[in-house]
Amino acid sequence: GKPPRLRGQPLGFTAVPTSRLDDIVVPPEYDFSVILPWGEPICGDYPAYLDGGLNSGADQEQQVGMHHDGMHFFPLTKAPPHKSKIGLLVMNHEYIDQAAMHPAGPVSIGGVRDADQVRKEIAAHGVSVVEIRHQHDRWVTVRGRYNRRITGATPMEIAGPVRGHAKLRTAYSPDGTRTRGTLNNCAHGYTPWNTYLTCEENWAGYFVNRGERPREHARYGVATGSGRYGWETVEARFDATAAGSDATQDYRNEPNHFGWIVEIDPFDPDSTPVKRTAMGRFAHEGLVFSQPQPGQPLAAYMGDDAQNEYIYKFVSRERYRPGRVAGDLLDQGTLYVARFHDDGSGEWLALDIDDPAFVQAAAEAGVSFSDQADVLINTRLAADVAGATPMDRAEWGAVDPKTGQVYFTLTNNSSRGADQVDAANPRGPNPYGHIIRFLERNGRADATRFDWDIFLLGGTEDDSLGPNGDPLTADSIHASPDGLWFDANGLLWIQTDMSGSQLGSGPFGNNQMLVAEPASGAIKRFLVGPGDCEVTGVVTTPDHRTLFVNIQHPSESGGASWPGGMLKPRSATVVVTRRNGGIVGT
Ligand code: FEO
Ligand code: CA
Ligand code: CA
Ligand code: CA
Repeated sequence: GKPPRLRGQPLGFTAVPTSRLDDIVVPPEYDFSVILPWGEPICGDYPAYLDGGLNSGADQEQQVGMHHDGMHFFPLTKAPPHKSKIGLLVMNHEYIDQAAMHPAGPVSIGGVRDADQVRKEIAAHGVSVVEIRHQHDRWVTVRGRYNRRITGATPMEIAGPVRGHAKLRTAYSPDGTRTRGTLNNCAHGYTPWNTYLTCEENWAGYFVNRGERPREHARYGVATGSGRYGWETVEARFDATAAGSDATQDYRNEPNHFGWIVEIDPFDPDSTPVKRTAMGRFAHEGLVFSQPQPGQPLAAYMGDDAQNEYIYKFVSRERYRPGRVAGDLLDQGTLYVARFHDDGSGEWLALDIDDPAFVQAAAEAGVSFSDQADVLINTRLAADVAGATPMDRAEWGAVDPKTGQVYFTLTNNSSRGADQVDAANPRGPNPYGHIIRFLERNGRADATRFDWDIFLLGGTEDDSLGPNGDPLTADSIHASPDGLWFDANGLLWIQTDMSGSQLGSGPFGNNQMLVAEPASGAIKRFLVGPGDCEVTGVVTTPDHRTLFVNIQHPSESGGASWPGGMLKPRSATVVVTRRNGGIVGT
C-alpha cells in the first residue's frame, strides 16, 4: 500500500533523557498504557492470571507467554479507518525467568524437574495471537476466534529441502517430516501474504548430548552437561544423547528440528505452523523482506546473533506475484551469506551444493556435505567454508521504504580483538555496537553484489558516531542496538538490549528506544523502559497513530515487579499514542 503522508514534523517531539526510573518514560507530548502482560488469559477456558506464580501448566497454555519479543499487527479489515482499530497482534516469547514464573523458582526432586513446572515453562515459550480492538479510547483484548497460543509443544510441519532428511528422523517423526514446538523465538518477520514468521535463536542450549556431538550439534552449542532448564529430566526429546537400543527414546536428531524460520498463518487458528528449512539453520534473530517487486524474486535478510557469526540473504527461485500465497516461495531458493569488503563493496556467497565456487571452497577446506539438506542443517559451517565476514552479533534487519537500503543492528562483540577489526566491524572489542546498511546493486533482490556503509556507531558523546558524522548527543547516546524497524513514513525505530554492567551502571540508563530519520540524520530518544528490562518489538497500526512496544524481562534481578503492585514482574506490551492523536514519531 501507499505509505501515509507524514503529517507533522519528523522527530518533532521532546527527546526523553536517559532514565533509571522503574517505569516507562515517553515524551511529554505522548501517553502510554500497558496491555497483554504475561499470563493474561487469551483462549480456551480463559483461566485468570494468578499472581505469585500460581497458574498451572494447563493455564499457561491458554495465557500470554513470557518474555515478549518480535511483534506484528495484522489488520482484520482492509477498510479505513477500521484497519487501524481492529487487528491481530502477534508476538513471540523468547525465553522464561523461572524465578518469576514459579512461586519459589524451579523445583527438582532427586534431580528430576517438577513435571507441571516443565509443562508451564514449555507453554510460556512460542507465539501469542490475540485479537485487539480500539474502543472508548483504549485498546482491549477481544475473546475472538483467532486467539491462539503456539508453544514449545505445538505440532509443526517441516518443509523445504531438509524435510524427510535422515538427520531429522526421531522417535516422534520416523520419516523426519514433523516436530513439536518452537523455542527461543527472538525477533520475527512477516510475509507479503500476511503470515507471521518466528525465528529460533538460542535453542541449542535447551538440548543436551552427553555423548560425542555431531557437527550439527557441536557447532551450535547443544549442551553437554544439562539442558538450560533441565527439561530433559522430564521429556526424553530434550536429551539427544544416543539412546542405545530403545528406538522409542531415540531423539538424537531432535536438536536438528530447531534453528529454523517458522511460518504461522494467524488468520487460520487451525493451521499447522511450518518450519521453512530453505532459509537456513542458525541463531535466527529475525528476518526482513526487501520490498516485493512483482515479477522479481523475493529476498529476505537474516542475522545470526552470536559473536562472529554472519548475515544471510535468501532469494526465492520463483518470482513474486501479488496475491500469491506462501508455499514454494519460501521452500525453493538460494541461501547466500555476506562478505563485506573494506572498500565499501560486498558480495553474496551462495551456500549451494550445485554452485561451483561453493563446491571448490568446501573441497579446499576439506569439508564435505552429503546433499543440500546437509548444507542447510550445517549452515554455519557452510558459511565458514564460503568465506563470510564474521560480524559483531547481527540482530534485527530493516528495509528503508524510501531507498530500499537494508539496515542491520550489530549489537556488540566483546570477543573481537583489536587485531581482528575490519571496516564493517571497526572496533575491537566492540562494547557499544553499531548499525550497518547496504544497498543491492541495480536494486535487484537477486543481486550478488552490494554497497555498504556504517549508519552509526553507538556509544557515549566521546566515542560514538551519529548518522550525520557527528557524535551522538545527550538526546541520542545509546548502546547495544537490537530491535530495528522502519515505519512506512521512513522513520527508523532503534531498540536497545544492554545487559550486565553496561545496563546496571553505564551512562545510558535503562534500555530504550530511539527514532532516526535517515534522510536528515536526526536521531532522538523516544522511550525509556523500566529497570532491568529489554525494549524489543515495535510496530504501529497502519494509520501510524498507535505504537506498540514490548517490554521484556522487567525486574529480572528482583526487588521490583513492573508493571507494579504485584508479587511477580510481567513482560508486557506498551501502547503509545500522541496526545493530539497525531502520527507517532512527530
Ligand atoms: Fe534474543 Fe539476539 O536477541
Ligand atoms: Ca531478548
Ligand atoms: Ca534481540
Ligand atoms: Ca540482544
